[in-house]
Amino acid sequence: MKAVILVGGKGTRLRPLTNNLTKAMVPVLNRPFLEHALRYLKKHGVDEVILAMGYLPDPIQEYFGDGSRLGIKLIYMVEETPLGTAGAVKNAEQLLDDTFVVLNGDILTNIDLTAMIKRHFEVRPRASIALTRVDNPTLYGVVETDSSEMVKRFIEKPAPDKVTSHMINAGIYILEPDVLKNVPPATPFMFERQVFPTLLENGQPVLSYPSDAYWIDIGTPEKYLKVHFDLLLAWDSSLRKIRIEGRSKIDPGAVIEGPVLIAGDCVVEEQAQLKGPVVLGAGCYLAKEAVVEGAVLWPNSRVGRGALLTNSILGANSVIEDGVSIPESCVLGDNIVVDTECRLKKGGRLPAE
Ligand code: GDD
Ligand code: MG
Repeated sequence: MKAVILVGGKGTRLRPLTNNLTKAMVPVLNRPFLEHALRYLKKHGVDEVILAMGYLPDPIQEYFGDGSRLGIKLIYMVEETPLGTAGAVKNAEQLLDDTFVVLNGDILTNIDLTAMIKRHFEVRPRASIALTRVDNPTLYGVVETDSSEMVKRFIEKPAPDKVTSHMINAGIYILEPDVLKNVPPATPFMFERQVFPTLLENGQPVLSYPSDAYWIDIGTPEKYLKVHFDLLLAWDSSLRKIRIEGRSKIDPGAVIEGPVLIAGDCVVEEQAQLKGPVVLGAGCYLAKEAVVEGAVLWPNSRVGRGALLTNSILGANSVIEDGVSIPESCVLGDNIVVDTECRLKKGGRLPAE
């Protein structure tokens, strides 16, 4: 089966993490976010993926190439100007001649896509939409359904007083190709605000696939950190809680409590403390007595002697100098140096927007 992944977004809400990197390439467990999406689709029988891209396509293409490393055929469709979610898929219409999957490029989930596809073929609607439950539906597309799970209404980003359900569009669709007939070519157009509401107004069958499986979108730095905590804390208890990829030098006098994932070429000095969940990107350096707890470090970052980093994200090539305590929940971008003069507050961002 073919799938389209929507990877158009700039990731503005993920700043400063996306200052130098497109959202799809932001590392999750030391792999580009998009790689997780591709592996998910592959696991559910997708063998060809069209990447519908707007912003900074080159690094994505350089990293993934033709997809053979992941066992998926990859096709890149680049928009000159953003075409919106449906316009971006319309752009690939000539490649879509059979039932296909669409995936928002900023979600991580284990919704059972295989079962969703099976259900789509049993009911044969024009479109199927996966649903998940959230606390605050105003940030999402709210989907109302009837007792047989057919969609009655789709309301994108409703005002708080218009929220009628906590079941929202999880950003996974199965579509029949003729749905794209309702989308004008080369024009910005949205599934959420145009295609789905119009199908429903015209009485076309749209099926929902509600699921309580894990689901999160990596929209903000807080959620980015939460994804890491969720994934690391879900590591199977029968497996080792400290995973070291490639070659790294961990001093036997370092104190490490899992779950911790360490990429290659890291150095952790004597009496440094790592308290999971922690991820170290490649080439990170933790000096003596550095304390890193509940944190994600991007490649080649350094935490100085006796410095402290808790519940925070440290960008690539960034340095926390000796003795500096970073307050909780900070997001430090790439190429930052934090010294003792720095007046960061809890939840601080560097560079500030
Ligand atoms: N190629 C391309 N071109 N992709 C785009 C474009 C575009 O013009 N606009 C958005 N996308 C991609 C984004 O990169 C993202 O992966 C996906 O489409 C959804 O867009 P977002 O901008 O992230 O929308 P959202 O998160 O506010 O809402 C969407 O996702 C929610 C679930 O996370 C909607 O689909 C909601 O209905 C849904 O609940
Ligand atoms: Mg989103």
